Amino acid sequence: MKHLSPIFASILLCSFYTIYCQKISVIGTGYVGLVTGACLAYLGHEVICADIDDNKINLLQAGVIPIVEEHLNTIITSNVESKKLAFTTNIPDAIQKSDIVFIAVGTPTKDDGTSDTTALYKVAEIISENLNNYKIICIKSTIPIGTSKKIFDYIKARSKNTQFDLVFNPEFLREGQAVHDFLYPNRIVIGTESLIAQEKMALVYASFIENNIPFLTTDLVSAETIKYACNAFLATKIAYINDISRLCEASGACISMVQQGMMLDERIGKSFLNPGPGFGGSCFPKDCEALIHIGDSFDVDLKIVKSCLASNALHKETIIKKIISALDDDLENKTVTLLGLAFKAGTDDVRCSPAITIIEKLLPSGIKIKVYDPAAMNNMQKIFPTLEYCSSAHEALENSDLTVILTEWPEFKELAFEKIVTKNKSLKIIDTRNILDSRMMRAMGCYYLNAGNAIVN
Ligand code: UDX
Repeated sequence: MKHLSPIFASILLCSFYTIYCQKISVIGTGYVGLVTGACLAYLGHEVICADIDDNKINLLQAGVIPIVEEHLNTIITSNVESKKLAFTTNIPDAIQKSDIVFIAVGTPTKDDGTSDTTALYKVAEIISENLNNYKIICIKSTIPIGTSKKIFDYIKARSKNTQFDLVFNPEFLREGQAVHDFLYPNRIVIGTESLIAQEKMALVYASFIENNIPFLTTDLVSAETIKYACNAFLATKIAYINDISRLCEASGACISMVQQGMMLDERIGKSFLNPGPGFGGSCFPKDCEALIHIGDSFDVDLKIVKSCLASNALHKETIIKKIISALDDDLENKTVTLLGLAFKAGTDDVRCSPAITIIEKLLPSGIKIKVYDPAAMNNMQKIFPTLEYCSSAHEALENSDLTVILTEWPEFKELAFEKIVTKNKSLKIIDTRNILDSRMMRAMGCYYLNAGNAIVN
């Protein structure tokens, strides 16, 4: 570009803009929809994010981001200012003004463990009423295998013969790191039966294709299966290392050495092998549950996924047993401090957090529960209003008999536990995330339990 005349360079840039820039609407502004809309605008597309929730849209239009996601605020602010990104509650208008409609509404778990696709079908109905020209309808929400085809048929039956194509484009976004995961994907998966839709989606993700990010195109059912298969596998990896950590505690082996020995095998890989209090979040538990039901609906018994969930539940039970044992089986008139409430560090989300299971089991005993979390306290207070919510970790640790570290917040690693333990010699510590220096904790003669007898320097 540097050898081109400025005029020619601007023509080139304009043609890039014209070729690649797509008019996109994103229906649903939760974790996935908001990050998707913001990042697509960041990639150069014109994006309208739409939601039925007036309050959420009013907050977004006022520049208030309702979720904790690193970099999201900056990306939204700059793209709203450059008019690449807008927010609305007028879903029909957003659909009519766009060529590609992303559906990113929630598909929560019903009481029977299956996915609730009510919101998805509601959006599909609105889309069928607003197909003012050819559009690509791209489902981002995690949906039961076979649902994309049902949505296609549902819209087709209501669309008065206006042409459209359907795509399933699964997201692989981790909460707290969703912007990073969107802008630095390992791969883009596009499920569709339409070549036109494949080409159109290649324009949406042109920036990634030009950087040699694999662009995997496949059929709808395979794309839907990829999403569940990935999440259930990652959850199984975590349940597996938690099982192994319990074996290490029984055998005297050191989990951190076992982890190193495993991670050096490139077939196993380095990630998702950290022991913890059990996996939580809005995805792994829900997707494993849904996948089991999908398997059952095809009369396929997904035994490993069932074992993954059973192992995760068992692991949380063993954490509770450790707590009761550390308090000499006498919880009355005792105080326990929970450091960390979010299901993982970097988010304010407590959905399916192990902290919830632990609190539910401890509350009936009459034990006093003091809690601190840098981001998730408001969300946990909506569930358990009677806990003692502290303004700092130090306040939470005062006059406590036992502290349990449940979330791997960096600030907990920096706590001067040597001073804390010197001041409160009877304080016992259960470190479910192996974030403290176990050699130092044990050298101080402190009652310190972690996951798998880890030797953490
Ligand atoms: C997950 C998937 O990673 C993501 O690809 C998908 O799109 C959505 O679901 P998320 O649930 O946001 O993302 O969080 P993730 O970082 O995967 O952690 C899930 C749970 O596993 C957390 O409770 C976390 O603490 C736990 N975990 C993760 C471990 O216990 N050990 C690990 O090594 C990694």
